[in-house]
Amino acid sequence: MTDPTQDPRFLQDPCPTFAALRSNCPVQPMHAESGGRPGYLVTGYAEAREALGDPRLSKDTAAFFAGKESRRRLHPAVAHSMLASDPPRHTRLRKLVTKAFTAGAVARLRPFIARVTEELLDRWPIGERFDFMTALAVPLPVIVICQLLGVPQKDRPDVRRWSGELFAAGRPDVIDAASHSMADYMTGLVAAKRLDPGDSLLDQLISVRDGTDRLSEEELVSLAVLLLVAGHETTTNFLGNATLALLRRPAESDRLRRNPDDVPAVLDELLRFDSPVGTATFRFTTEAVTLGGVDIPPGAPVLVALGAANRDPVRFPSPDRLDLDRDAAGHLGFGHGVHRCVGAPLAKAEAEIALRAVLTRFPDIRLAVPPDRLEWRRTRLVRGLAALPVTV
Ligand code: HEM
Repeated sequence: MTDPTQDPRFLQDPCPTFAALRSNCPVQPMHAESGGRPGYLVTGYAEAREALGDPRLSKDTAAFFAGKESRRRLHPAVAHSMLASDPPRHTRLRKLVTKAFTAGAVARLRPFIARVTEELLDRWPIGERFDFMTALAVPLPVIVICQLLGVPQKDRPDVRRWSGELFAAGRPDVIDAASHSMADYMTGLVAAKRLDPGDSLLDQLISVRDGTDRLSEEELVSLAVLLLVAGHETTTNFLGNATLALLRRPAESDRLRRNPDDVPAVLDELLRFDSPVGTATFRFTTEAVTLGGVDIPPGAPVLVALGAANRDPVRFPSPDRLDLDRDAAGHLGFGHGVHRCVGAPLAKAEAEIALRAVLTRFPDIRLAVPPDRLEWRRTRLVRGLAALPVTV
């Protein structure tokens, strides 16, 4: 099988392709994955969960590419991030991050998130068609992460541009250049914060200790870039996908409008229904592994299709229905296992505040184009809209 995620029809609606693959075989061999070796695509829920929890599937991308010729020039701080490492290195970094990035840190950001959301909504043009993505879903997450990390106001446009460029699918030179701009910038920011400490997450990360252990300069830069990149595009696409799902279902939107306190409880179902991270990041087998009855040789790339797993009827009955009363806990939208999303509480806080504000402040928000005319972003990792035209 060739990679189905390159097909435009697939980008519009991946579910039929995933359903066909899953029922045929939940673990499919694929041609020419990263590194030129045959890869495997996992679409079943049980198999996806198993793969994400299996220590024989490595995230150490540097080890996979070692000795292979590559023209890539990704900055080492980006190439060797926490998300691209295995235990024990991963365990150590993750422990230090979790000590700094606490529930309290997210709770303290809530008033800021609410204020930025209202300021963005103040600018919506009443009676005219506009793009929900540019007007809310794109700016909100990046403003929030910059605030969290303590990126000064004047530098935010640059950080936002580099962050977007790091997702420039199919343009490795742009990605590599952006990784250097971003890492160089964060190196300077860490140095500035050492001279003039504040109370941002980056300041916490600078001072966090686990016994005598602490983060090195390179690890700090790497984490700052990872938090920015991992938390930006993902949350943008969650806001877009969730809003689209609700706009297409007026009964469900009305229900949330009448009971805005229900919004936090439906976020998991919205994440399950149209998962913003379509496939988890690159993994490869360090030894022979049998997954879903399929024998995978050592050194093979494995792609776990989170969006497909979240529509597996064995785990979620009538999976193609958005059911706001469903208990969607256990969905894989934030991944699973040791790399499960660190920023999940922040992403949920942002989505809750934004969806609640949009639904209650603009009860008449409508989709301005037929759903089948919507354009989706051409990337495999994230699933999100290029634009979401609406009117209020
Ligand atoms: C709705 C929004 C979000 C979604 C759907 C999402 C999804 C995910 C997923 C699926 C993974 C695991 C990837 C894998 O195993 O290959 C992950 C990891 C991660 N996410 Fe998120 N994420 C979101 C928002 C955020 C935010 C707001 C932040 C931070 C501010 C963040 C930071 C991270 C980090 C640092 C990791 C790596 C964790 C590790 O390697 O241990 N994410 N996320």
